[in-house]
Amino acid sequence: PALSQDELKTLVGQAALQYVVPGEIVGVGTGSTVNKFIDALATIKDQIKGAVSSSVASTERLQALGIQVFDSNEVDKLSVYIDGADEIDGAGNMVKGGGAALTREKIVAAQSTKFVCIADESKLVQTLGKFPLPVEVIPMATQRVIAQFAAKGGKGSIRLKDGKPLVTDNGQYIVDVTGLQITDPLAFEAEVSQWPGVVTVGVFAYQRAQVCLLGTASGVKTLT
Ligand code: A5P
Repeated sequence: PALSQDELKTLVGQAALQYVVPGEIVGVGTGSTVNKFIDALATIKDQIKGAVSSSVASTERLQALGIQVFDSNEVDKLSVYIDGADEIDGAGNMVKGGGAALTREKIVAAQSTKFVCIADESKLVQTLGKFPLPVEVIPMATQRVIAQFAAKGGKGSIRLKDGKPLVTDNGQYIVDVTGLQITDPLAFEAEVSQWPGVVTVGVFAYQRAQVCLLGTASGVKTLT
């Protein structure tokens, strides 16, 4: 029988262990696929020093499994950062932030030498933009940022939770933008990052993945 999406996530979560460097601190992302990785990491926790985490949710899961979590500022460089994605293209550019953790994810990715993306094959796309693009925005700038996306053909809306704007781990809002075709991820990331009030745009081109472990019907495929 074909593997379920959940089983594919488990497979790539376990496969990511081969990139963890013994004795070091590993960068850990956020999401349901990363949760599988964290569970796998717990089985070798005596071989690592600990983790730097990209969200409150991942920190709680790591600590519950007995893995020490370090503050980003306490560590210099990380060899490896392991995280999922909402979309990834053949060059390793990604859209992230479906779990609202994009800002801390980009920070930890930026301090890591290698980004290993773990995803099931439904995340692989030709061109980024089908998944609504998450953008973390300072609340007073949301309408202006939505207007700037409209000028690019995108339709932005504030992400809600229980009928109210979702508040991120950093106390900001998320604007989700549909209708974009991100053909030049590097230029797009550079431009939107400069708009006043934008904290983080969910395009990861500067911090793109060097390796992608993709869960497919025929097993884990490694894209580099
Ligand atoms: C979190 O903010 C996102 O960037 C996640 O990496 C992304 O949503 C992937 O999550 P899943 O592994 O649950 O699909």
